[in-house]
Amino acid sequence: MIPGKRRAAVMSFSVAILGALMLQSVSSQYEPSITASEHATLPVEGDSLTLQCNLTSAHSAHQESFWMKNGEEISETRSTNRNTEYKLHRPRGDDAGVYMCVYTFDVAPPANATIEVKSAPEIIGHKRSENKNEGQRALLYCKSVGYPHPVWTWRKFDNGNFREIDNSTGRFFVSSRDNYTELHIANLDISLDPGEYHCNATNMLGSRDEKIVLRVRSHLAPLWPLLGVLAEIIILVVIIVIYEKRKKPEDLQDGESPRKTNSTNNHKDKNLRQRNTN
Ligand SMILES: *[C@@H]1O[C@H](CO)[C@@H](O)[C@H](O)[C@H]1NC(C)=O
Ligand SMILES: *[C@@H]1O[C@H](CO)[C@@H](O)[C@H](O)[C@H]1NC(C)=O
Ligand SMILES: *[C@@H]1O[C@H](CO)[C@@H](O)[C@H](O)[C@H]1NC(C)=O
Ligand SMILES: *[C@@H]1O[C@H](CO)[C@@H](O)[C@H](O)[C@H]1NC(C)=O
Ligand SMILES: *[C@@H]1O[C@H](CO)[C@@H](O)[C@H](O)[C@H]1NC(C)=O
Repeated sequence: MIPGKRRAAVMSFSVAILGALMLQSVSSQYEPSITASEHATLPVEGDSLTLQCNLTSAHSAHQESFWMKNGEEISETRSTNRNTEYKLHRPRGDDAGVYMCVYTFDVAPPANATIEVKSAPEIIGHKRSENKNEGQRALLYCKSVGYPHPVWTWRKFDNGNFREIDNSTGRFFVSSRDNYTELHIANLDISLDPGEYHCNATNMLGSRDEKIVLRVRSHLAPLWPLLGVLAEIIILVVIIVIYEKRKKPEDLQDGESPRKTNSTNNHKDKNLRQRNTN
């Protein structure tokens, strides 16, 4: 290489390094720096988990700081301290999530740092059973806590085996969003669909499973109580009609010959009296 060119190369190299250093000092001058606690995983040893943030340098005095969880401010965490902490007492699955400390400034945009608190999923709510009629639509669901959000799968327990459920059959629709999953079954089939369904939540830290029982009744089933009432009414009507028919000839006789009835009544009275005296 020609010495002149080498010199030029070395010079441009040092200029580049210098530039990088200057940029860094400029950015550190303008961007506040925050040191934050390490990411954590639940469960933790001991009774509590303390999340800390220290504002170590800033372009100007900060106004205040506060904490956020999953994108929402945690109430009563505002303070004016440079060092701030948020304590989780006996943290459980629903304490898992993305925590953030935010520092606000008078003249500059807020600065923040993120601390992830991870945990295996827990299924905290699910439909225990669903009772539907054939041809209707069933809706099964499960909800979870834990972070990261789980991958959801649905399975059906059939003849001692688990069968994976997805959208491919055309009657099953699985839709899952973060901490919630739903299984819709359209046009219920009384011979194929009843049974045990399982939702399964899995993330890198663990896996949980819950059972939901689906019962499918014949579509005549809801008519049975109605049919019962109908039968009662028919029986009642029949009884009334029979009673009326048996009564009618007597009524007619009464109308035609009141004296005769009187005499028969008299006979009856006599008979009664005789029976009484006997
Ligand atoms: C924040 O500062 C305090 C006090 O100097 C120190 O004990 C703590 O370890 C610091 N925390 C972090 C996350 O740097
Ligand atoms: C956190 O800081 C990043 C840039 O560092 C910014 O894009 C984001 O909007 C901030 N978030 C909040 C909630 O302040
Ligand atoms: C299944 O179908 C539902 C409704 O059409 C849709 O919202 C969902 O994203 C589908 N799920 C998959 C895994 O393709
Ligand atoms: C589920 O996640 C949504 C947002 O992703 C959140 O608003 C809701 O509180 C979460 N529910 C539970 C039970 O964690
Ligand atoms: C959930 O599904 C995964 C993947 O199929 C499986 O490895 C895991 O054992 C299941 N979890 C439970 C609790 O059954």
